[in-house]
Amino acid sequence: MYPFWEVPFFTSGIVIALIATFHILPCHLATGAFWFSVYVERKAVRQNRPELKEFVQKFTLLILVFCFVIGSLTGVGIWYSATVASPRAISGLIHNYVWGWATEWVFFIIEIATIYVYYYTLGRIDDKSHLKIGWIYAWAAWISMVIITGILAFMLSSGKWIETGGFFDGFFNATYWPQLFTRTALMFAIAGVYAVTVASRMSDEKARHEVVRTASVWGIAGLAGTAVFMAWYLYKLPEPAKELSLGGGLPYLGHMLTAAGVLMGVIFLYFLVVGLIRPQFANVVTGLAAMLILFAAIGAGEGFREGVRRPWIINQYMYGHQVVGPDLPAKGIKSEVAKFQEEGLLKNLYFIPDEWRTITKETAVKAGRILALHQCGNCHSFEQDGKIRPLPPLLAGMEPESPDDLAGFLDSLGDYPYMPPFTGDDQDKQAVGAYLFYRVLGNPMIDEGE
Ligand code: HEC
Repeated sequence: MYPFWEVPFFTSGIVIALIATFHILPCHLATGAFWFSVYVERKAVRQNRPELKEFVQKFTLLILVFCFVIGSLTGVGIWYSATVASPRAISGLIHNYVWGWATEWVFFIIEIATIYVYYYTLGRIDDKSHLKIGWIYAWAAWISMVIITGILAFMLSSGKWIETGGFFDGFFNATYWPQLFTRTALMFAIAGVYAVTVASRMSDEKARHEVVRTASVWGIAGLAGTAVFMAWYLYKLPEPAKELSLGGGLPYLGHMLTAAGVLMGVIFLYFLVVGLIRPQFANVVTGLAAMLILFAAIGAGEGFREGVRRPWIINQYMYGHQVVGPDLPAKGIKSEVAKFQEEGLLKNLYFIPDEWRTITKETAVKAGRILALHQCGNCHSFEQDGKIRPLPPLLAGMEPESPDDLAGFLDSLGDYPYMPPFTGDDQDKQAVGAYLFYRVLGNPMIDEGE
């Protein structure tokens, strides 16, 4: 086990989620935008309307700056935060999908190179060649999505990979196509919001209203597609994930889905009212407001997607606390649950002071804290007023009367559909029980014999 990255009050998952939500706006914009941009440019060329090119130029500049600065920074941010939050899970993914990522990055490089060429050659080379560059960008960007979605979907539904260990068995899994279609539709909706905002700054009024309207139609079509494909996605969720989310196992997942739906409904109204009926209302302020709503909707939607994976971080392979669940003979991977329960988890933690390895009354709470962080800290905060499933109120709800009660509770952890089993031996359980009872719940330490 690697050292644990503790993020007080919020847990490391929230850090990844925040960065990821900031990433999704620019990256879906980057994939969706050029289909619209090239469409407008083609119209400008075919109908000989140079005033439309003003939009293409402004829109491309926005994408260049927004996507390739914020998008790139947050993309790297996801790698950094996910690597320190769940190093073993990232390692597991890389061992399976390094060539997937390598392929994706080839398309990234094409994307980055072509957007610069596209922007700086606008109006300087012949129209036909310029349009071709736009098409290369649009396809390269979308293909990068085609690839990354396979790896994302693999984490929720690992498919036949469990038996075969095959790259494509995991890649083209049950939720792959619905997720790819959902993201593809969503990218047009996101591009629509940005396009409306950029178009509202065009100087020619007739052209302005026309582009705002067209962008809104694209946005509405994108939202409608998102709704349809999302329903398909929900239908394709693995049974346990359906139980947790739609069956009410974890009510907050249902709430997140509702929130995403309602917020998307608001964006729909925005396209309808500001975009189609009253294009003169389209401006930077309403555009920014729409982006904020979009941001919240995406946060809720992605939170749902991440949440339904419980108790796994990689479905049927690695638990949320980064312990390998079952044997995977096809990959030569052995389950660690029995191993850690036999040997003890403490023995398998390498980055702790040696004196904590023998549990005494003094060291129990210290070793217990490290063990508890590893076993619970990915999903729970430990502070009374923690923001993510704080343990103190949850544990107090069980009304434990001694550390032993809590140690006993740990045995039943795997019976919850959303929690992995506790993977440690009796000594580990005692230590965690002591830490939770005395430190997390704040019970006074009483000397034995008194
Ligand atoms: C993979 C994530 C995950 C891990 C790891 C995990 N939990 Fe949980 N736990 C949850 C979720 C999800 C809930 C549901 C409560 C909620 O979301 O409000 C929960 C609920 C609980 C509850 C309330 C039980 C109830 O009645 O619903 C307790 C107590 C608890 N966890 C303790 C622990 C302890 C102690 C550990 C570590 C030994 C741990 N959990 C590890 C995800 C996890």
